[in-house]
Amino acid sequence: MTSSLKDHWNKKYTNTPITQLGWYESKSQLSLQLIENCAVSKDSVVVDIGSGVSVLIASLLELGYVNLYAVDISDVALEKAKALLNQEQTALVHWIVDDITNPTNVLQLQNVNVWHDRAVFHFLTEEQYRQTYHSLLQKVIMPGGFVIMAAFALNGATMCSGLPVQRHSVESLSEFFGDGFKLIQSLDYTYQMPSGDLRPYVYTRFQKI
Ligand SMILES: C[S@@+](CC[C@H](N)C(=O)[O-])C[C@H]1O[C@@H](n2cnc3c(N)ncnc32)[C@H](O)[C@@H]1O
Repeated sequence: MTSSLKDHWNKKYTNTPITQLGWYESKSQLSLQLIENCAVSKDSVVVDIGSGVSVLIASLLELGYVNLYAVDISDVALEKAKALLNQEQTALVHWIVDDITNPTNVLQLQNVNVWHDRAVFHFLTEEQYRQTYHSLLQKVIMPGGFVIMAAFALNGATMCSGLPVQRHSVESLSEFFGDGFKLIQSLDYTYQMPSGDLRPYVYTRFQKI
């Protein structure tokens, strides 16, 4: 695992109140909508990659999903995320600390039905890391499974959390996914940061063939 990257995110989560994070949402409304659109059963394997302290996990538990995986490079983030839940809820979630640019634990996942990535893939500015991510998806997503990806749009910011990002369009994401996945849904969404600044995102939902 890249220790400097892990340190970067751990510092961010240690030093910033959750509601002040530049990607904080009080409700993961769009993500939930796209996950529900997949219409999978509640015992399906649902992975939130780069989950951070998102309330998505709590909302999915409330909706009855029972096979959830929260994955992040930051153990600090996952500990804070656990603290948002009660003991029973925490025990229902698989918590995995891993780096998607050099995955180990996540590679052990199998038959993933829904993979959700909000504001993580866009940090992969190097082709080699995007290839690693693609190989990971090919390995762990089951045929017919879904990948929901939300990234900064082409007219979005060039940095996030002090790190450079690669901005995306439906076309660039379709190119990344390639022939093994088909585009099912896409939409533009402008997120308002706690500071009031606006961040245009592109949301996509792909299905593995
Ligand atoms: C901008 S935040 C988004 C968090 C969450 N998805 C949300 O929507 O609230 C990016 C998250 O990705 C995690 N992350 C960044 N690089 C990562 C990597 N290489 N592997 C795993 N997680 C990573 C960070 O720790 C952080 O929690």
